[in-house]
Amino acid sequence: MQEIVFATNNSNKIKEIEVLLSAKFHIKKLIDIGCNEELPETHHTIEENSAEKANYVYSTYKIDCFSEDSGLEIDILNGEPGVDSAHYGGTRDANSNMNLVLEKMKGKENRKANFKTVITLVLNGIQHQFTGILEGTIGTEKRGLYGFGYDPIFVLKDGRTMAELMLDEKSRISHRAIAVKQLIAFLDINH
Ligand code: IMP
Repeated sequence: MQEIVFATNNSNKIKEIEVLLSAKFHIKKLIDIGCNEELPETHHTIEENSAEKANYVYSTYKIDCFSEDSGLEIDILNGEPGVDSAHYGGTRDANSNMNLVLEKMKGKENRKANFKTVITLVLNGIQHQFTGILEGTIGTEKRGLYGFGYDPIFVLKDGRTMAELMLDEKSRISHRAIAVKQLIAFLDINH
């Protein structure tokens, strides 16, 4: 089976992506290649941070890899929390992040939002990007027990929150899944 490095140590992301990729690729994590460091994310867009992580791993470890960077973008907040999604509420705590969003969205009628994932693949030194967008709205309270991050306040078109989907279903419909499917199609042809 072909091997590919997923440049993350985030176990939630690995679980989601393994559901889709594991039939075709053996996914190695950063610790499997001896990388225990936090990857640099110094830019102001999801695209640039995604590219920075994959290029860093490729140039440091000389190995083909892909990374992903994602975030929640809320229309009426001009795309916030966006690139700051992980620590919007001041820490990396998902509850404080969601509380701040709920606070800022109080009384707002336009609740449109989307999750976005940008995957960067570096293959033989050449960079390719794949984007996945999932549209929904911001709820008025947290609901659901699964997932992570903003899942309990992200309402899908069918009225369920993302945190009401079990891993298998989320892994198939998420913004990450949409981007991963493009990655798989590309790797099928080029790897
Ligand atoms: P990063 O991509 O690791 O920089 O983190 C992005 C942040 O966006 C995460 O810490 C979460 O807060 C949020 N996020 C990314 N993907 C998801 C998701 O699938 N569900 C809920 N929140 C997410």
